[in-house]
Amino acid sequence: MTATTSDIEKAAGVLRAGGLVAIPTETVYGLGANAEDPSAVTRVFQVKGRPPSHPLIVHIGGVEHLDAWGEDVPATARLLAERFWPGPLTLVLRRGRRAPLEVTGGLETVAVRVPDHPVALALLSTFGGGVAAPSANRFGSVSPTTAQHVRVELGDAVDFVLDGGPCEVGVESTIVDATGDTPSILRPGGVTREDLEAVLGRPLAVPATSRVRVPGQHPSHYAPRARVVLVEPEKVIAEAELAQELGHQVGVFVPPALADTVVKAHAVVTVPGSMAAYAHGLYGFLRELDQRGCDLIIASLPVEEGLGLAIANRLRRAAGPRPS
Ligand code: TXA
Ligand code: MG
Repeated sequence: MTATTSDIEKAAGVLRAGGLVAIPTETVYGLGANAEDPSAVTRVFQVKGRPPSHPLIVHIGGVEHLDAWGEDVPATARLLAERFWPGPLTLVLRRGRRAPLEVTGGLETVAVRVPDHPVALALLSTFGGGVAAPSANRFGSVSPTTAQHVRVELGDAVDFVLDGGPCEVGVESTIVDATGDTPSILRPGGVTREDLEAVLGRPLAVPATSRVRVPGQHPSHYAPRARVVLVEPEKVIAEAELAQELGHQVGVFVPPALADTVVKAHAVVTVPGSMAAYAHGLYGFLRELDQRGCDLIIASLPVEEGLGLAIANRLRRAAGPRPS
């Protein structure tokens, strides 16, 4: 059920008292704390099991708060904020006066965004301050896209869950290094490279040239319990059937072109043809295959343009080497 006005007031009270609130956004659910309360922020790291050197994103209520959280905000950053906020774009800026080092993991930069979700915006407006929130999952696992995912994964570790329904976009925000005049993408997400370049009227810088450090971008991330193996689209079905014969409980992501093929596997997900629908469903599909007892997931990468870039990024990380 979607959060009511009294839920939002209660959530704002929990934040003021130093508690943790799960908040719906258009991308994924966040595990929120008052960004200016260091002990609440410390609890976010503890609950997530995340190293304190991995900075959090500060969620703010509108572009008018930009200069309180960032400092020396370049004109390009302002342009992107005005054009894409509220929306799935996070800007990395020089750390402003309201951003404590606990939130930035000790960095002199801060990541900020205005989420495009009515419940999140109502909370930010009622609360009045910034909400530091990573995705509301345990460190390294799949991000939650429903309130139920949060309840299952975090249980009593979170003081209050605001239910805003399923997240529309389904993958995290695009993180852009906006500290200089030529921005670059640090993490692909809900706003596409093409959208950003159209607004800027010029290409983005290649990420390797960014001087901004990006802690927390591990090769293995967004990972379900099952091992994820990526193969060429035309090999997905043969590989899945072979692994199934070898005794694996195989979950398979069948590409749209092969949607009608009968596949011998433990669980089959037919991937939507539209990248928006694929992104929306991605984390739910991974969770579903875990729940159905798969130990191996075979998938292929979509074409890496538009939202396909963010989907491919998450699949590669889900397939990345696991910490032993
Ligand atoms: O869509 C999203 O961005 C979601 C929702 C809840 O807003 N949040 C999210 O947060 O994905 P999290 O903590 O899972 O990912 C935040 C990423 C991390 O990989 C971190 O390294 C990067 O943002 N980040 C945060 N502050 C940074 C900074 N000052 N410089 C560079 N990277 C930063
Ligand atoms: Mg995350």
